[in-house]
Amino acid sequence: MIRLRRLRENNAIRNLISETHLSVNDLIMPYFVIEGKNKREPIKLMPEIYRLSIDNLIKNIKEVQDLGIKAVLLFGIPHDKDNLGSQAYHKDGIIQRAIRAIKKNIKDIVIITDVCLCAYTSHGHCGIVKEANSRWLIANSQGKKNKSHQPEIDNDETIKVLAKIALSHAEAGADFVAPSAMMDGQVRRIREALDENGYQDIGILGYAAKYASNFYGPFREALKSTPQFGDRKTYQMDYRNSDEALREIEQDIKEGADIVMVKPALAYLDIIRRAREKFNLPIAAYNVSGEYSLVKLGAKAGIINEKEITLEILTAIKRAGADLIISYHTKEVASWLMAGSL
Ligand code: PBG
Repeated sequence: MIRLRRLRENNAIRNLISETHLSVNDLIMPYFVIEGKNKREPIKLMPEIYRLSIDNLIKNIKEVQDLGIKAVLLFGIPHDKDNLGSQAYHKDGIIQRAIRAIKKNIKDIVIITDVCLCAYTSHGHCGIVKEANSRWLIANSQGKKNKSHQPEIDNDETIKVLAKIALSHAEAGADFVAPSAMMDGQVRRIREALDENGYQDIGILGYAAKYASNFYGPFREALKSTPQFGDRKTYQMDYRNSDEALREIEQDIKEGADIVMVKPALAYLDIIRRAREKFNLPIAAYNVSGEYSLVKLGAKAGIINEKEITLEILTAIKRAGADLIISYHTKEVASWLMAGSL
């Protein structure tokens, strides 16, 4: 009889036969960038994560780079929001300035930017809300919010704006743009805009299978992007579906995505695995805010050991088939890896 347990007999043997490896090369650190100088605003639901002004962002990126991290994902929080999200593609918008500052001050860091409207629109939706659908806008201007009213998003108008945003990020120096609005045709429209303007080298990380998830709550607090009416179920995916995720991913690949993403990660390992088996593009997984906060607060409550459980979760995401992971735990994991964990 084969004795399977012999291969677990000691640490060295376990390491010899281990199949999955977490590496600083695969981790991407997300950042929330705000206006101002020397700002570092804590986010109540996300301990150890801050909204940073550009000067502090640079300092923080240098620290994670010293730990071996190679890539960052940027989210901007503008001063002014409007119904069309026009600050999102402003040449001197918060993200455009952040990109330029990083390029100027830091060598060899891959800059990925989130391309969406939710942080820039006053209604908090990821797209342009149709004029004819202005019931909420009117109600709101009279001070009566109709919270349950679902938005009618103008898909084709939105992807034009997303392309403008992506282009403005490319002009500022981004390496990858990551459209997360879940609009049809967003990847194609962005690819065309980049190519027409000489940015053939800029890549697209498509948030291909992005679910309408309850795990995004803390992020919306961080980004101040909670929808003011309705929810995101008319554009993000229904968590009961899995075949549909494969169709979304296939579509993004056809439209020109270089990397495709599944989001959230932990409750969607089956989707990551199916995508891994079907497609041979790099697959990213987003270990989202709710997943992070539950671990942080669970550890503070003494229910779990933060380090051990985080390494287990991230390893499981890789084992499912993700090549790269966006995680708010990136900096801590990098320091644990440097200290020789795993
Ligand atoms: C914006 C966007 C969201 C996240 C990333 N990009 C939120 C949303 O769709 O509401 C969530 C990330 C997280 O929870 O960490 N389109």
